[in-house]
Amino acid sequence: MNHITIVESKNHVGEEVEIGAWVANKRSSGKIAFLQLRDGSGFFQGIVVKSEVEEEVFQLAKSLNQETSIRLTGVIQEDSRSKFGYEIAVNSIKVIGESHDYPITPKEHGTEFLMDHRHLWLRSSKQHAIMHIRNEIILATYNFFNKEGFIKVDPPILTANAAEDSTELFHTQYFDQEAFLSQSGQLYMEAAAMAFGKVFSFGPTFRAEKSKTRRHLIEFWMIEPEMAFMDHEQSLEVQEKYVAYIIQSVLDNCDDALDVLERNKETLKKYTELPYPRISYDEAVKLLNENGFDDITWGDDFGSPHETFIATQYDKPVFILNYPKAIKPFYMKPHPDRDDVVLCADLIAPEGYGEVIGGSEREVDFEALTQRLKDFGLAEEDYAWYMDLRKYGSVPHSGFGLGLERAVTWICGTEHIRESIPFPRLLNRIYP
Ligand code: 4AD
Ligand code: MG
Repeated sequence: MNHITIVESKNHVGEEVEIGAWVANKRSSGKIAFLQLRDGSGFFQGIVVKSEVEEEVFQLAKSLNQETSIRLTGVIQEDSRSKFGYEIAVNSIKVIGESHDYPITPKEHGTEFLMDHRHLWLRSSKQHAIMHIRNEIILATYNFFNKEGFIKVDPPILTANAAEDSTELFHTQYFDQEAFLSQSGQLYMEAAAMAFGKVFSFGPTFRAEKSKTRRHLIEFWMIEPEMAFMDHEQSLEVQEKYVAYIIQSVLDNCDDALDVLERNKETLKKYTELPYPRISYDEAVKLLNENGFDDITWGDDFGSPHETFIATQYDKPVFILNYPKAIKPFYMKPHPDRDDVVLCADLIAPEGYGEVIGGSEREVDFEALTQRLKDFGLAEEDYAWYMDLRKYGSVPHSGFGLGLERAVTWICGTEHIRESIPFPRLLNRIYP
């Protein structure tokens, strides 16, 4: 007999098969038991008809607790009432692992309770849908950059210098030397771009940010492309093309997951239309001031209410360009006509999801960059290797970082970033 998974059932209609599954839920009457089954690949229903199975099979079906693991045999048949379209008419059931008093019942639970049981919560259909979309975005990322001629390069996780804000570093011990967990692979990716032209990284990054918002994780995954001989304008084109590509891939391959999440597909479709609008930081400040945000003056960084307001002016993601030099990292190249702003952009997602990409053209001049290190109080000797890139055939180059979980949260349309990663690390949470 064929051992199959639930998603494969469409290829086995009319056949008797064996499936390993968990009982997600169950209801029964005197004559029939309906088992809601899941096996990781999908969800479908098992029907146990009293008159068609041995009495002990029917009694066993009626007694199964939520999350009991079983092996069952039965015949796959079409089920026009369910969206999935198939079910199994059960012949036999064998219990593999018992389950008593499973804590997550079909009733509503509070968020903290669910977060404490994240290791079990992952089994639910909503979490299943989110993780499938996350997986699709990961696959689409590899496909996109491969198609565009990039190669993946892996920067180190343990580092000796800061890439972004040095107040947000996780400190650790590297034998008798102090070290940090990577906040961004960017500086290493710049070295890689000088070696391989177009590169991208995809790895975990760590920020000891004391932000308790629905957009911040302490540990998150970032995709960081870096491109030699590309100016910032060319980088923006890669960014929007990449974002449109991952959204299109989710639309093409995650239809059921989007339905489970009740995500509006027309809305997502709109985000695949290029180009995305662009406004300058100056214009953004003006727009905010004209609309009653008098807490922002030129030079301030935007908070989430500001980003959300700007986003609502557009029906697509919007690039905000050329932020003040003082609020951006040391490596960004100043604007050629203005010394107070840098050649950078943040891509702000619609619907209040905030910044999904931060990117810039990099300062490539040795003297100017040396001065920037000084201005930021960064020790030159820590960055000696990075400065070498400006000594030996320095070229214009640009890059960006997309936060995977920000993208997943936005594309799924979920409220909070904590559900976009299997085991979120949040301020005050490292369990489970
Ligand atoms: O804007 P950020 O800090 O940029 C960099 O790290 C650059 N070195 C990237 C580069 O140019 N190679 O972070 C990039 C993105 C943000 O736009 C956001 O999507 C995400 O990373 N991000 C976070 N996601 C979740 N939780 C956090 N605490 C995040 N901080 C940044
Ligand atoms: Mg940023």
